[in-house]
Amino acid sequence: MLIGIVSEAHRGETRVAATPATVVQLVKLGYDVVVEAGAGALSSFPDDAYIEAGARVGDPLAADIVFGVDALTPEQLDGLKPGATVMGIMSPAWNPALVEDLAKRPITALAMDAVPRISRAQSLDVLSSMANIAGYRAVVEAAHVFGRFFTGQVTAAGKVPPAKVLVCGAGVAGLAAIGAAGSLGAVVHATDPRPEVADQVRSLGGEYLSVEAADTGEVEVSATGYAKEMSEDYNTRAAQLYRERITETDIVITTAQIPGRQAPTLITAEMVASMKPGSVIVDMAAANGGNVEGVVRDEAVVTANGVTIIGYTDLPGRLPAQASQLYGTNLVNLMKLMTPGKDGRLVLDFDDVVQRSMTVVRDGELTWPPPPVQVSAAPAAAPASARTEVKPTPSGTESPMSGRRRFTVAGVGAAVLFLCAALSPAALLGHLTVFALAIVIGYYVIGQVHHALHTPLMSVTNAISGIIVVGALLQIGHEGTPNGTLVTVLSTIAILLAAVNVFGGFAVTRRMLSMFSRS
Ligand code: NAI
Repeated sequence: MLIGIVSEAHRGETRVAATPATVVQLVKLGYDVVVEAGAGALSSFPDDAYIEAGARVGDPLAADIVFGVDALTPEQLDGLKPGATVMGIMSPAWNPALVEDLAKRPITALAMDAVPRISRAQSLDVLSSMANIAGYRAVVEAAHVFGRFFTGQVTAAGKVPPAKVLVCGAGVAGLAAIGAAGSLGAVVHATDPRPEVADQVRSLGGEYLSVEAADTGEVEVSATGYAKEMSEDYNTRAAQLYRERITETDIVITTAQIPGRQAPTLITAEMVASMKPGSVIVDMAAANGGNVEGVVRDEAVVTANGVTIIGYTDLPGRLPAQASQLYGTNLVNLMKLMTPGKDGRLVLDFDDVVQRSMTVVRDGELTWPPPPVQVSAAPAAAPASARTEVKPTPSGTESPMSGRRRFTVAGVGAAVLFLCAALSPAALLGHLTVFALAIVIGYYVIGQVHHALHTPLMSVTNAISGIIVVGALLQIGHEGTPNGTLVTVLSTIAILLAAVNVFGGFAVTRRMLSMFSRS
């Protein structure tokens, strides 16, 4: 089949749906590729590079499958051949007119931004890949406007304090912004109603500020994997936190979104007025109403007190080459899923929840909205028992288990061990003591390991698994001794379980290393 890559018709769109590198992968899947002349020019991919990668330059609308970044215009749709399949960012939930238009045509339309948030679909998730770029770029935009260093410096001429950055909403874009601001040397704080993101914030060097309210810890996740709207109580306490923090903050980056709704207002005009002159706010949710009062979509405005509010909605397009590469890779991953025979033939499998969720129209039949998908969102933490005041959680001091719970677990463990010791023969007592000590020491040692060091920790557990294998091998085969068969069975189970860890560890390491290798 022939894949066509259009030149984007929407004004200001700098991305392209395939790069020379992704064309090579599409050709490997058995497809022919035709690229519209100049399609990659704004992303710095000349036509020659596409030809070298195996594509030809021509009319993409005559192809069987048409790739775009944005939805095709009505004129482009008119040019499609019957039975064609189009793929692009269509925002079908927000764009009923487009959905209606698509359904009138004898085509199939797949919305790249309707990929469900499930682990299996991560490699196709365009919203995440674009939000990641946008979060980084938001920091670059802020740094460009902010007339000072991000990093603190001690010079002969005096001391320069580091910039203070507050990120509101630590989803994909927020985490990217935390990482980028931190790597420039800023002191970064972040909020999010989902307490499970606290560890991710810390692992990127930021400090998580928790807004403790009645509903903190039990933030509901919608069928699409996103947080639902917060309660009045949470919003009041969050506003108090922002009011307290914002006067000392140099850069604010807001990313809060509740899909299907207007973005929640987090930063009021009164808060903006209390900021220092020269401060910068980047409101990433500007396309959806904004998180900041006074934001103007696609513009940078300066308030009376000298605060710049940036409302750009084209942040991924400001890094067009990489945005195109990631978007093109998302499309290649979708094509891999839809080309089971690797023979250049597209197969739409409606039993696959990912493909079903993305399909807006199938052969002229409207299939939108899709049935809800059960997502694998992180489990909510236990509900907060008491309503306490807003307080930041000091980085690294929060324990993974509450004191009372830890005490109960330790108590139950001690009781079980005591029982085992009382009932077991004297020869086993020494082993039980070593076992109990190993649990206690292991708990404290591993509990203190920073999240960033969990990968090296894995190799240590592999080494331990190796010791288990050696020990178990030495035990096997003592058939004549008392309990010999039991020992052999237990040793075999130990070897099997340890081997899973050893080989699993190698597989994961190999996969991680391959992410860094240049193909
Ligand atoms: P996401 O869903 O991964 O993250 C949003 C985060 O906001 C979630 O962690 C959620 O828990 C949090 N949140 C929800 N309500 C909140 C509240 N009241 N206070 C604080 N946090 C709250 O979304 P993603 O992909 O990170 O995108 C973030 C925003 O960036 C979206 O509005 C998206 O449209 C926008 N975006 C903007 C771009 C641009 O060029 N300006 C480009 C890409 C994305």
